[in-house]
Amino acid sequence: MNRQEFLSRVGIGVGAIVLTHCMTACSSGGDDTPAPSTPGTGSGGKTNLSLNLNDAANGALKQNGGFLYKDGVIIARTKDGEFIAVAQACTHQGTTVQFDAAGNRLHCPNHGSNFKIDGSVINGPAGSPLKKFKTSFDAATNTLKVTE
Ligand code: FES
Repeated sequence: MNRQEFLSRVGIGVGAIVLTHCMTACSSGGDDTPAPSTPGTGSGGKTNLSLNLNDAANGALKQNGGFLYKDGVIIARTKDGEFIAVAQACTHQGTTVQFDAAGNRLHCPNHGSNFKIDGSVINGPAGSPLKKFKTSFDAATNTLKVTE
């Protein structure tokens, strides 16, 4: 083996090792945290929920302080009787938030983020607000609409 053959063989060997390490690192790296899904969109359309409060499934909203989840949205009735609706997935890592009626806020039980009822951040680690939805209540039909 002459010098040129030796260098050629060593170069191919080193290249193969570097390529193997790169491919291993690239395939195992990254954040495995799933991105929060877009709430309330169902089959990809815009959120347009209609909840009849006469239905047992929506009974939690008959009382002040009650809340429920529907299609990725947490819908609550504050202690003052106001309806609110925001995305239920915490903007930190996607955990489902809860409505804290006494504190008039939304709380994430995973790492302790808190949000105002308009979805804005009170404290992190979440750094982004929860998406807010519009609510309108028709007392004649006892129906709450939640839209974007
Ligand atoms: S997932 Fe909500 S604070 Fe971390």
